[in-house]
Parts: sequence; structure tokens; C-alpha cells
Amino acid sequence: MKKGIIIQGSSRSDGDTAMIVAYVKELTGFEIVDLNQKKIQYFDYEFKNKNDDFGDIFKDITQNYQTMIVATPVYWYTMSGIMKVFLDRISDYLYKEKDIGRMLRGKEMGMISCSNDDDNVTEFSLPFSRSAEYLGMQYLDDIHTWVKNKEIPVEVKEKINAFALRIK
Ligand SMILES: Cc1cc2nc3c(=O)[nH]c(=O)nc-3n(C[C@H](O)[C@H](O)[C@H](O)COP(=O)(O)O)c2cc1C
Repeated sequence: MKKGIIIQGSSRSDGDTAMIVAYVKELTGFEIVDLNQKKIQYFDYEFKNKNDDFGDIFKDITQNYQTMIVATPVYWYTMSGIMKVFLDRISDYLYKEKDIGRMLRGKEMGMISCSNDDDNVTEFSLPFSRSAEYLGMQYLDDIHTWVKNKEIPVEVKEKINAFALRIK
């Protein structure tokens, strides 16, 4: 079984995306990193933020995992701000310490989106699949999920079960 990590990018740690992520963890055994619990500042061309939490998370991913699954709620038809900042900060390791950034090459990325309906936004996955390509990563798959009344509907669980088999 591959070693994977799920990057949870919701603005709440106990919300809908967290529920989906916990279920994916059950199925895959992948670790979770909750970005909402971390201090990660916006990308900064002068790298004044280099001592915040991003570096440790990124180095952990590059050194210890083959597969990175990014999980984001749908906020305003796109990824959460937290997830966008996470993606932006990968640029730190394209400008500086490029050897660490290059370690992403050959790794795998997948993406989970979450809202309250089966209303997948057209091209939602594009920033992820294109970023994976740019970074030399294999883009495995993506899935749109939803939570209703604080429960994962059976049809969503079935979708996730199939997704888990494709990523693990
Ligand atoms: C700032 C914000 C923007 C949102 N925008 C959308 C949207 O564009 N489309 C949609 O279907 N749901 C939207 N929602 C609803 C969330 O996608 C939905 O409640 C999701 O399950 C929340 O996940 P979370 O608990 O992990 O934050 C939005 C919610 C918030 C807080």
C-alpha cells in the first residue's frame, strides 16, 4: 500500500470536508494534515514568512509520502483560500531550495472537493491537474463529494469507496 497524506483545506476543522477526509482516511490509512490548525501566511516574494508552518509540512510531504490528496470545500465556485495559499506557497520551493521542490516529481496528486450538493463546478479540478502537471506529478483522479445534514449520503460513500481504490 502506498504512503499518502490528505491535505485538509477547510476553514473549520470539524466541518463537512473534515467528515469526508476522515472517511477517506478510514478507507486508505492516509495521514491527515489540517491546514486550519497551522499558521501559513500568503506567498511572499521576499520569503519573510519562511519560518511559518509551511516549510515543515512541505518537507514532510516531499520526504515521506508518495501520494498527496488535497481536500477542499467549494467556496465561491473554487477552492478555499487556505488551500490556495497552500498551493501558492509551493512556489517557495521553486524559487529557493529547488532541490526540495523537485522531490515532488514522480509523486501523485488527487483532489477531493466538498459542498452540500451534487453540483460539481465546471473545471473545478483544473488548477489542481495543471499544477500537478507543472510540478511533474501524476494527477491520479478527483471526486466531488457532499454532506447533507451532517451525514455523508450513501451515494457519496459509494463514490468515495471507488475513489479510494483508485488512489491507494
Ligand atoms: C465562504 C463560503 C463560500 C461558499 N461558496 C459555495 C459555492 O460557491 N458553491 C457551493 O455549492 N457551496 C458553497 N459554500 C458552501 C460550502 O461549500 C459547503 O457548506 C461545504 O460543505 C462546507 O465545507 P466545510 O464545512 O469544510 O467548510 C460556501 C461556503 C462558504 C463558507
